[in-house]
Amino acid sequence: MSRAIIVGPGGGYDRITVEDRPAPPPGPGEISVRLHACSLNYHDYVVVSGTWGPKEPRIPMADGAGEVTAIGEGVGDFAVGDIVVSTFFPTWLDGTPQVYAFGEVPGDGVDGYAREAVTAPATSFTHAPKGWSALEAATLPTAALTAWRSLFGDDRLKPGQSVLVQGTGGVSIFALQFAKMAGARVIATSSSDEKLARLRELGADETLNYRSDPKWGATARRLSGGGVDHVVEVGGAGTLAQSMVAVRVAGHISVIGILSGTSGELDLMPALAKQIRLQGVLVGSRAQQIEMIRAIDASGLRPVIDRSFGLEEIADAFRYQESNRHFGKICLEF
Ligand SMILES: NC(=O)c1ccc[n+]([C@@H]2O[C@H](COP(=O)([O-])OP(=O)(O)OC[C@H]3O[C@@H](n4cnc5c(N)ncnc54)[C@H](OP(=O)(O)O)[C@@H]3O)[C@@H](O)[C@H]2O)c1
Repeated sequence: MSRAIIVGPGGGYDRITVEDRPAPPPGPGEISVRLHACSLNYHDYVVVSGTWGPKEPRIPMADGAGEVTAIGEGVGDFAVGDIVVSTFFPTWLDGTPQVYAFGEVPGDGVDGYAREAVTAPATSFTHAPKGWSALEAATLPTAALTAWRSLFGDDRLKPGQSVLVQGTGGVSIFALQFAKMAGARVIATSSSDEKLARLRELGADETLNYRSDPKWGATARRLSGGGVDHVVEVGGAGTLAQSMVAVRVAGHISVIGILSGTSGELDLMPALAKQIRLQGVLVGSRAQQIEMIRAIDASGLRPVIDRSFGLEEIADAFRYQESNRHFGKICLEF
């Protein structure tokens, strides 16, 4: 038996319980993993907090990492003792998107990784980057892979090009790090001047306060000399119009996040006039995760972890995320 966090139907911090769950041995094609860490994402927040709570009792958290404790028949890629990290879409292994919404996503449509032990198909995991702890690896499946796919999957960022990233959450900090790794110029925004200073320390070339400069799209366009090549759009309905101002003619906007809402009035003329490529993004495939981890191994990049909480402190961890005080990733370690 091992401990697991359960979120009751509808979600909400008052519906979180800790239960013992069986830890079965692996069948053919499966591995057993002693999980040691999860990382928090906005998507996990909407499930756990009850904004879009689960229909039935659910083990939350899409991102998990730990150590392989047993391997089933026919598994050749992993050995006992390996540090492994989960994938956001266990059924989307490679190629063009194969999945619709969140029905097969751990922690939402199926049970996730807020638990000490899991037995699952080996293809639900990949190796962690070399030398990374489980805590570090747990930052990757949702936030990092979304940033990676946005820059190197749907678009092919080139050295010298410019990237706009918004705010200082998990996706945006990884996007900044990947863009700098590729030799791009980064314009980064935040609502906090203190966080802007930290963004510059991390390599941002230009920074903008989106609160004190509500027309930050025009400022970003001017700073980039005519428009940025790529926008990692996590703000949603409240930021897309400014992102369309910021981007260059025929530039690329990855439509990723909904931090300021999912709907609102939108003037489509800039999209036509500038022939903008707008691409909806839902994380990425297992093959893209492996490609991303190869690049991390080659570059020496390390994740920015703001703070870690214990497994049973999960509600405190999400309250901390709600406060927007974090810079980078918040994790659970157990
Ligand atoms: N489509 C996908 O595949 C995918 C994958 C991952 C995440 N997402 C989405 O992307 C968004 C970010 O996720 P995350 O996990 O990185 O979140 P997070 O870590 O919770 O990021 C929160 C940060 O975003 C910034 N922010 C909040 N409102 C903003 C606004 N109106 N404009 C600009 N920045 C704003 C704030 O930064 P400052 O304090 O610096 O202002 C805040 O601290 C969420 O909407 C999430 O659902 C989508």
